[in-house]
Amino acid sequence: MAATPALEIRNLEAWYGESHVLHGVDMVVQPGEVVTLLGRNGAGRTSTLRAIMGLTGSRKGSVKINGVETIHLPTHRIAHLGVGYCPEERGIFSSLSCEENLLLPPVLKTGQAGMSVQEIYAMFPNLAERKNSQGTRLSGGEQQMLAVARILRTGANLLLLDEISEGLAPVIVQALARMITMLRQKGYTVVMVEQNFRFAAPLADRFYVMEHGRIVEQFGAAELEAKMPVLNQLLGV
Ligand SMILES: Nc1ncnc2c1ncn2[C@@H]1O[C@H](COP(=O)(O)OP(=O)(O)OP(=O)(O)O)[C@@H](O)[C@H]1O
Ligand SMILES: [Mg+2]
Repeated sequence: MAATPALEIRNLEAWYGESHVLHGVDMVVQPGEVVTLLGRNGAGRTSTLRAIMGLTGSRKGSVKINGVETIHLPTHRIAHLGVGYCPEERGIFSSLSCEENLLLPPVLKTGQAGMSVQEIYAMFPNLAERKNSQGTRLSGGEQQMLAVARILRTGANLLLLDEISEGLAPVIVQALARMITMLRQKGYTVVMVEQNFRFAAPLADRFYVMEHGRIVEQFGAAELEAKMPVLNQLLGV
């Protein structure tokens, strides 16, 4: 018997006010998979993550988290099922120190214990070095790691990451790639939205491509090379 998917989305539609942005998204992610959601600007990738969290204006269809239907649940109840959303804007509090930011979120009662601050510092040694630095003093890369680390402390095991590599120097992007690999080894399920195809390509088990609020392509890592012409056409990569 197949395992219960960590995330199962069927015919998901979403709106911002009158604006209909998702037109029937289907996506199934198994526990422990790293999946990348690709697409051009405005394709609906951020809206997909926001709709999973119940953060769009309205939504319909089905979104199951570990088999639990969430389409009628409010955002905080969805988060409590073990979903961690890292928005593009990261949400680091500038007046708090790195460690205070880390200690901010509540620990979820998902059964899976969140990482302790010590475990987080072992995984992100540069955050340990910067623990007393004010949020605004952290580099873009440090802020991005902090934003992800903060989610790990809650005990979330399904991570929704929006364009974590965006605007960061290549050396930082490499560190983020190592972080994703580490999360995968630890058994986290990851859905990453990416514009940076070269960052995502070696990390993901499977790929989805969106266009105009719909999934237009999906394939596994083994098919990546064969799919390159199609990806070129869809993304201009
Ligand atoms: N708050 C909002 N109100 C109304 N329309 C929105 C809102 N946010 C996004 N949209 C629209 O929804 C569509 C999908 O946007 P979305 O942010 O999901 O795209 P994306 O794939 O994440 O691309 P990018 O991050 O490059 O902008 C776009 O047409 C966008 O203009
Ligand atoms: Mg976006």
